[in-house]
Amino acid sequence: MEFENIIFKVEDGIATLTINRPKALNALNKATVEDIEKAVDYIAESKDIQVVIITGAGEKSFVAGADIKEMADYGPAESGKWAAYGAGVITKIEKLPQPVIAAVNGFALGGGCEISMAADFRYCSENAIFGQPEVGLGIIPGFGGTQRLARLVGLGMAKEIIYSSKNIKADEALRIGLVNKVVPQAELMPAAIKAAKKIMAQGPVAVQIAKKAINNGINADIITGLAFESNVFGLCFATADQKEGMKAFMEKRKPEFTGK
Ligand code: HXC
Repeated sequence: MEFENIIFKVEDGIATLTINRPKALNALNKATVEDIEKAVDYIAESKDIQVVIITGAGEKSFVAGADIKEMADYGPAESGKWAAYGAGVITKIEKLPQPVIAAVNGFALGGGCEISMAADFRYCSENAIFGQPEVGLGIIPGFGGTQRLARLVGLGMAKEIIYSSKNIKADEALRIGLVNKVVPQAELMPAAIKAAKKIMAQGPVAVQIAKKAINNGINADIITGLAFESNVFGLCFATADQKEGMKAFMEKRKPEFTGK
């Protein structure tokens, strides 16, 4: 698939979505978000894609935020519509059935941090900088930052980061749990692909059901989450993968999953 502002590739079951607007440090204008939406809609329907990696082009920036130049003259109606549209596309990323890894290769500011937080987990390069600098522009995070950051790093940490436009370097991002791993820039994509392959060696249906159980649960009370978990646990026993996974254990061999 060809796009103007993203590079989209599928290889060996892994889709790589690279945000590619280098002249603006990969900032998200409307055209870029529209490209992302098209790719995400395609991924959601794909039977071949098992894991998704989202990254930015170049070695300086993942995404430096929503495009400030495009937004600057918006009024309340237009900006509210833009926030709802972008947040909706980012939620589509979160809701993808396949696991999504953000490989954060530099600045992940504002909308960039927000896209990365819709991924299931984040790896970053040593030069990565996360942040929600919106209040310094007289606005607030509008692509989910006020909601997802607190869920990931806790209320107090999220509030300090958002209220003070604090930049979070890679080592601090690791310490507060915003990223799972920090690696040198050249090792970022190999590390993300290695993590993707580790996931792909598991029962594919089970991985997607686990994602649903975790995401549904985090947005509900624990009793509702636990009820959902036991229902879909039962569902796993309707799959060929469960039969194969347990048979392989008893036969002391590696399972051969079919994703059915
Ligand atoms: C538009 C941007 C941009 C952005 C960078 N550029 N970030 N353009 N929107 N968010 C452009 C610059 O204008 C410049 O183009 C080129 O990219 C290179 O950037 P520089 O500033 O020259 O690079 P550098 O000095 O290295 O500084 C890097 C930076 C800085 C620290 C990342 O660019 C920066 O602070 N960017 C804005 C970060 C930010 O505030 N993000 C949050 C946006 S609000 P020209 O042509 O001028 O040379 C947001 C809200 C989300 O995300 C919700 C919306 C509803």
